[in-house]
Amino acid sequence: MSEFVNEPVRSRTKHSTFIINLSISNEETGYMRRASNAAMVGSVLAFVALVAVSLSAQGNGGSAEGRKMKNPVASSAASITAGKAAYQKYCRFCHGAEALGDGPSAPKDSHPSDLTDKVWTRGSTDGEIFVILRDGAGPKFDMKGFKGRMADTDMWNVVNFIRSIAKK
Ligand code: HEC
Repeated sequence: MSEFVNEPVRSRTKHSTFIINLSISNEETGYMRRASNAAMVGSVLAFVALVAVSLSAQGNGGSAEGRKMKNPVASSAASITAGKAAYQKYCRFCHGAEALGDGPSAPKDSHPSDLTDKVWTRGSTDGEIFVILRDGAGPKFDMKGFKGRMADTDMWNVVNFIRSIAKK
């Protein structure tokens, strides 16, 4: 390791994995190096976390959280009726009255999904759909989450409604 002790600053990144060893052999600058090492590890971790968050928000292939959830609201006629009412109120203007993805007021250049077909790019379980309603559809979030605007039960009602209109 000693060959790195007198290396100029610019090579630190290249040999970043040796910084810990350096800090042991050189107490004087060790603190600074440990600090910058920690900062670097910190920013790498922050970046990884950011990527993980954006991937899970994007949810391509669905979300692990959603897959684990169990729909707490049984799909009764009452739940589907309530879900339909909530759908008409909160979803229709983007997804369309028949949920075919043809709502009149979808944001420009957005493409609301057909909710009656078998394509579920963000996951197809009840829980995964619930998570989309709660958190929105990333990464662009043309569809924002309904957390705070709709009660959880209502979101599950909407899930049950969407199930009821699936094309056979
Ligand atoms: C402001 C417009 C808008 C509103 C309001 C909206 N959505 Fe969306 N929704 C979208 C768009 C756009 C997408 C597709 C995003 C993408 O793929 O880029 C989408 C995607 C979805 C998806 C994912 C479908 C799939 O194939 O994985 C579901 C489920 C969904 N919306 C349900 C709903 C429900 C239910 C409501 C009402 C509670 C709602 N949306 C309200 C615009 C909207």
